[in-house]
Amino acid sequence: MFVFTLCLYLWSWLSSIHGLDFRYHNSVEMEQYLKDVNRMYPEITHLHSIGQSVEGRELWVLILGQHPSEHRTGIPEFKYVGNMHGNEVVGRVLLLQLINYLTSQYLSDPLVTRMLNSSRVHILPSMNPDGFESSARDCMNSVGRYNKNGVDLNRNFPDVFESNTPQEREKEVRAVMDWLKTETFVLSANLHGGAVVASYPYDNSNRGSELQGGQSISPDDDVFVHLARTYSYNHTEMHNPDSCSGLTGFTNGITNGYYWYPLKGGMQDYNYVWAQCLELTLEISCCKFPPESQLSGLWEANRPALLAYMQQVHLGVKGVVMDSDGKPVQNAVVEVSGRKNLCPFSSDRNGEYFRLLLPGNYTITVTYPGHETLTQSIKVPYGPDSFSALTHNFLLQQSDNSSTGTTQPQSCTTAITTLTLFILQTLLLS
Ligand SMILES: *[C@@H]1O[C@H](CO)[C@@H](O)[C@H](O)[C@H]1NC(C)=O
Ligand SMILES: *[C@@H]1O[C@H](CO)[C@@H](O)[C@H](O)[C@H]1NC(C)=O
Ligand SMILES: *[C@@H]1O[C@H](CO)[C@@H](O)[C@H](O)[C@H]1NC(C)=O
Ligand SMILES: *[C@@H]1O[C@H](CO)[C@@H](O)[C@H](O)[C@H]1NC(C)=O
Ligand SMILES: [Zn+2]
Repeated sequence: MFVFTLCLYLWSWLSSIHGLDFRYHNSVEMEQYLKDVNRMYPEITHLHSIGQSVEGRELWVLILGQHPSEHRTGIPEFKYVGNMHGNEVVGRVLLLQLINYLTSQYLSDPLVTRMLNSSRVHILPSMNPDGFESSARDCMNSVGRYNKNGVDLNRNFPDVFESNTPQEREKEVRAVMDWLKTETFVLSANLHGGAVVASYPYDNSNRGSELQGGQSISPDDDVFVHLARTYSYNHTEMHNPDSCSGLTGFTNGITNGYYWYPLKGGMQDYNYVWAQCLELTLEISCCKFPPESQLSGLWEANRPALLAYMQQVHLGVKGVVMDSDGKPVQNAVVEVSGRKNLCPFSSDRNGEYFRLLLPGNYTITVTYPGHETLTQSIKVPYGPDSFSALTHNFLLQQSDNSSTGTTQPQSCTTAITTLTLFILQTLLLS
């Protein structure tokens, strides 16, 4: 009997390490799993909580990479967020499976190895654990969608198009907003359910020039379409018309968010506009809370897409903005010609910038107070194949004329003011 118990114990211990059951793990089990993985793979994982839910559950983030505990120059930061709507649970399951896959395949699978050596991957399997715990196991019901305060977290972020509406931020939203300040996230996706489609910004519009043919088009629309297609075509079904029978099909399995249905206070617009992080909303299952027997099939359908999408963090160009002494410069505006972002992309506290761009020729202008404006043309190759974006550093020269150097770099606030002016103009003109 003792031997039998011992065997049973060993078996469950081994399976907890080498495999992860295709079932729903509650918040306690998920926390235990993340701690186990972190203990098993201390070299390539770092576990931390970015805050707590309304009911006090930790919002755990597992970071994976060659140097999981800290940012390294030139290594882009990537993130996945699951289960923002508590009853849309497939993302939560798949992100745990992804953690299991990445950790177990590191140094054996070449793609996984190169991915974790060249980028840092942050995974928040559940942004709304309270909602999950209160969910009904139902395909289309919305019980559990909201957080404990009954708020839809994907409507609770500041909205650049309707910035005048003051709104109480929920704890989970506040935690994500603070999280975005701690790293320069370059690429992200948040996983939902109830449809099968890759949706991209904008989700909202103020009926300005961005509204074109019913779509709300961002300055980086070409990149977003490419990113969405990368997911939908690497997914076994998403790119097919009518991948959820009964729902209207999406061409190529992608859609502009606003074109599908406008929403305000969404997370993807916030990431893109305010945090310079390109984010998609991935709807990955027709059924929001499917039977556990379907989970392994959903993992197989999404696994290649989840991996291919991560690799896209290497699109475009990256580098450091330095002054004439070679010191990194923070808050230099790095602007790609023809892309008027509502908040300009700028260098971070390490002087680094990251700009996802499709292959081609681009003109980049760098401005910083007290320094000559720098304009350079670059040819951008396709980075994902080589697991690195093009590296291009900028060296600023102090301007002779000290009085010209006082101009402040353009900020988001002034961008909104110009936007407001623009709206007023169009209103007056129309
Ligand atoms: C990834 O990094 C590990 C640890 O430094 C190293 O042993 C391995 O050779 C690297 N592999 C690749 C493909 O870069
Ligand atoms: C899958 O993703 C890769 C990038 O990792 C991309 O090159 C490829 O075109 C995608 N597959 C399809 C069918 O679009
Ligand atoms: C980009 O610029 C190079 C010269 O630097 C030129 O040979 C090439 O044709 C250009 N490519 C495109 C797509 O314009
Ligand atoms: C230098 O500053 C003066 C004002 O002090 C201004 O009139 C002049 O145009 C500036 N010169 C350049 C090259 O910016
Ligand atoms: Zn959702």
